[in-house]
Amino acid sequence: MECTARQITAEPAPGEDCAPTLAALLREGVSRLTEAGIQNARQEAVWILEFALGATRLALQLDGRRTVRQKESQRARELFARRAAREPLQYILGTQEFCGLEFQVGPGALIPRPETELLVEELTRAFCSASAPIIADIGTGSGCIAVALAHALPHASIYATDRSQAALRIARQNAARHELGDRVIFLAGDLFEPLRRIDLEGRLEAVVSNPPYIPEGELAGLQPEVGAFEPRLALAGGEDGLTIHRRLLKDALEFLKPGGRLVLEVGQGQAGRLCRIAVTRGGYGLARVIQDSAGIERVVCLTRKK
Ligand SMILES: C[S@@+](CC[C@H](N)C(=O)[O-])C[C@H]1O[C@@H](n2cnc3c(N)ncnc32)[C@H](O)[C@@H]1O
Repeated sequence: MECTARQITAEPAPGEDCAPTLAALLREGVSRLTEAGIQNARQEAVWILEFALGATRLALQLDGRRTVRQKESQRARELFARRAAREPLQYILGTQEFCGLEFQVGPGALIPRPETELLVEELTRAFCSASAPIIADIGTGSGCIAVALAHALPHASIYATDRSQAALRIARQNAARHELGDRVIFLAGDLFEPLRRIDLEGRLEAVVSNPPYIPEGELAGLQPEVGAFEPRLALAGGEDGLTIHRRLLKDALEFLKPGGRLVLEVGQGQAGRLCRIAVTRGGYGLARVIQDSAGIERVVCLTRKK
């Protein structure tokens, strides 16, 4: 017999054997997430149940009267509670798709965003017929850009740096997961500093980066999933959001070959300012600015002057 709604939502007493049905557990999850202000509560509750129980969506629809073992329902309830506390769904499920590849994600690294795929697409177009380009991904996080580039460009060598050891652990696992560990070299350190140690000055065809770009004053207003869970080192871009971009503009000149490309992601309203900084600094020609699917100028593409 199905438990009543009151029995399902209440903490089961020790030794009480009240197994909820799949349908009841789904209802419980939807109401928990709705109360927590999650927009897409039903869809997310389904994903969490699929993950927690190994159940398919079809089973959730057709087999709703099946009772769920206590250990499994407890696991599902723990995951509902984490999501209700606004932990990102991707950290709970442990993966995120990027450029058609599945990436492991965790609290040590930023969750890859769809707009970042534009950087990979730009460089894939530029180098699809190049013989053996050497590309650096600065601030690699989960390794999504570096691994997706290595996957799309079978003759490329990618060097990827990050200051965060936790992010690099995740990035290395992602390269291994896609069997690209031999062509993506991960190095710990500040921006280009690890590349200096291996004498890559003047040898790069391209530098790509999605640096932290949230202005200091906007950090406190971020939605809880981002501000309270994703690493601050991956978000905080200094007073105007472009502190790291300015350093990249300066250092990339030393590492790019003449004619080499610098491809940078920016936040909303930052592209024009970054282009002006690049022109004032000198050494670069502006190739183009790419908009994301929301019409926001998201990627600034520059070339190192010959
Ligand atoms: C916005 S996240 C981007 C991560 C990943 N590339 C992506 O697109 O999902 C920025 C990354 O830069 C790293 N980072 C921040 N400051 C850095 C620095 N000075 N040197 C190296 N990496 C840095 C952070 O640890 C973080 O992983």
